[in-house]
Amino acid sequence: MTTTPVSPSLIATLPGRHYTDPELFRQEQEHIFESMWFCAVRGADLARPGAFRTVQVGRESVIVTRTRTGELRAFLNICRHRGARLCTEESGEVRRTLQCPYHAWTYDLEGKLVAAPNLVRMPDVDRVAYGLVKVALREWLGYAWVCLADEPPSFEETVLGAAVERLGDVAAIEHYGTEDLALGRRIVYDVRANWKLIVENFMECYHCATIHPELTDVLPEFADGYAAQYYVGHGAEFGEGIRGFTVDGSEGFATLPALSAGQDRRYYAITVKPTVFVNLVPDHVILHRMFPLAEDRTLVECDWLYAPEVVASEADLSKSVELFHRVNEQDFEACERTQPAMASRAYRNGGVLVPNEHHIGIFHAWVLEKLGGGHAGSVH
Ligand code: FES
Ligand code: FE
Repeated sequence: MTTTPVSPSLIATLPGRHYTDPELFRQEQEHIFESMWFCAVRGADLARPGAFRTVQVGRESVIVTRTRTGELRAFLNICRHRGARLCTEESGEVRRTLQCPYHAWTYDLEGKLVAAPNLVRMPDVDRVAYGLVKVALREWLGYAWVCLADEPPSFEETVLGAAVERLGDVAAIEHYGTEDLALGRRIVYDVRANWKLIVENFMECYHCATIHPELTDVLPEFADGYAAQYYVGHGAEFGEGIRGFTVDGSEGFATLPALSAGQDRRYYAITVKPTVFVNLVPDHVILHRMFPLAEDRTLVECDWLYAPEVVASEADLSKSVELFHRVNEQDFEACERTQPAMASRAYRNGGVLVPNEHHIGIFHAWVLEKLGGGHAGSVH
């Protein structure tokens, strides 16, 4: 397994093929992205009834829409007649129904088949049974999380559990009131790297001193390479003289109202496997959603969320956004630099993790377990 020591200090990573093999990626789609809760859409992006977005979840296209009564619903983006893709747009808004562009089967926003040419002459057709295929949906932090599994895993254990594991309890993240925050900025990064390289990068800070000068100025404890974020309940403290989580350490915005005293002047990072990173700072929340598209390509949608009054006042967010935007660019460049090497014979048996990175071995073991335990065989 991945935790086998190579030497007392070093343990092996996954072999290179785990980052380059389309068949292994297909298995990850099936056993990870299509089996777990997947953070798909920000609820506020679907503000009005009839608004929809389509998202790629594993190998499936999923429609998330808001009903007339204001609920979010998710369906497979497939017409029940002869299988045409129902919505080809990434986002849009309909009045009351979704109509297939092929033979005009028409579904209401609850997914029920409500009209089709000659449908009245087929009274035996069950309009619910031939409605759109529903996908499980939960809302948390203001986002719609969907799960394609017939029997979704416990949301509490697999999603909320990540916050508990990291912060000690779920109340600590609830203090940020993320679901009530407003979108200040969204940047989508098209990263030419396997999604696991992005997760691994986010999980360690061994690289912080080398590639993140602005971040380590604000959070000096990151400069020593320890993943301080991985001690339960610990958040990295702002350096002396740092006034806010901004690119130059200048003043940010008012501290979010419900934070506890200990959460002021600290940064917390949470990885919600498989595809979400949540970054908590006193005056905003940064949430990354990954959409793995291929073994070597991942879209990362990053939202900067602020108190509604900050966004409404059209305050200048640039120094605030710039800090993590730089971190993102620095991180994704590192991941893209690593991706081609995964196919090299030098990486046939993988690389190594230093002690500061040993917890990444737990992530690797988790991936292997999802792929079916012994599947990957020995990593050596
Ligand atoms: Fe959609 Fe025929 S495939 S109406
Ligand atoms: Fe980084």
